[in-house]
Amino acid sequence: MFNPTIFIGEAVNKMKEVVTGKAIIAVSGGVDSTVAAKIAYDALKDKSLAVYVDTGLMRLGETENVRAILDKLGINYKIIDGQDTFLSNLKGIEDPEIKRKVIGKTFIELFEVEAKKFNAEFLIQGTIAPDWIESGGGLRDTIKSHHNVGGLPEKMGIKIYEPLRDLYKDEVRKLAEFYEIPSKRQPFPGPGLAVRIMGEITREKLDLLKRATDILERGLEKEKIIPWQYFVVLLSDRSTGVHGDRRVYGNTVAIRCVDSIDGMTANFTNIPWDILASISREITNKIPEINRVVYDITDKPPATIEWE
Ligand code: XMP
Repeated sequence: MFNPTIFIGEAVNKMKEVVTGKAIIAVSGGVDSTVAAKIAYDALKDKSLAVYVDTGLMRLGETENVRAILDKLGINYKIIDGQDTFLSNLKGIEDPEIKRKVIGKTFIELFEVEAKKFNAEFLIQGTIAPDWIESGGGLRDTIKSHHNVGGLPEKMGIKIYEPLRDLYKDEVRKLAEFYEIPSKRQPFPGPGLAVRIMGEITREKLDLLKRATDILERGLEKEKIIPWQYFVVLLSDRSTGVHGDRRVYGNTVAIRCVDSIDGMTANFTNIPWDILASISREITNKIPEINRVVYDITDKPPATIEWE
């Protein structure tokens, strides 16, 4: 049985031994990196600085949420604005694996700048076991390059330390409960909405996806339906629709809701049709650029949870 108190005690001691200098911690607002940041702060105190990059690839209101969580934890932190850097580095990129690598590299470059300012020798990340297993750790094929593993540039001027790398999501959630960090937050991928926009990322597409995601989240939460993960994907294919008596050629989004224990396998969630229908109507009414909404009824495997 996984015991949070024992794990944290050992993780703090080990970090004190290994991380001899100052460290910055990459935080995304997700459960994994927030738990890693708290362990790091417990071990290193003022020798640590948590850094959150506002990539512009996050959901509506996410930066404010993260600020509230970090304030409550009472750790050292800093928020940097990387929106323009990410958008310009991602310009013209359509291939999902290249996207992930560019995002990983951009994160590291921004973190390296912060590390230099803080005189840090280490970068602490909240990588967990499925991240590196699916990125080709061990003998498996690479399913996806998780941005915080396969995306790392080979020559980094900083040492990486990952206190949670042998844990699975359910175990990390137990640690979060122990620390009173919101543990029921659905997982959100490090590369953010970039892996939910098929093809090139633009400011306009991000804006559509953020608004549609917000409608889905509120729509389900209002009905107290909280799948393990629930989100919207913006497809690159457009389709014909009709607004009033006018033909439109608009965007299609897919709603993806899954139930899972650790993200390694998943089943699509059986959501009542009337609830999906009302969310679909709200999306197409409030966002006229979207004229078609589909529901993804694929399990993992054979699909993955994210579309890219
Ligand atoms: P997939 O799509 O591989 O996702 O079935 C499994 C779980 O991992 C999340 N995910 C990521 N998390 N960096 C992350 O931190 C990533 O690059 C990444 N890609 C996928 C996904 O949201 C799901 O919970």
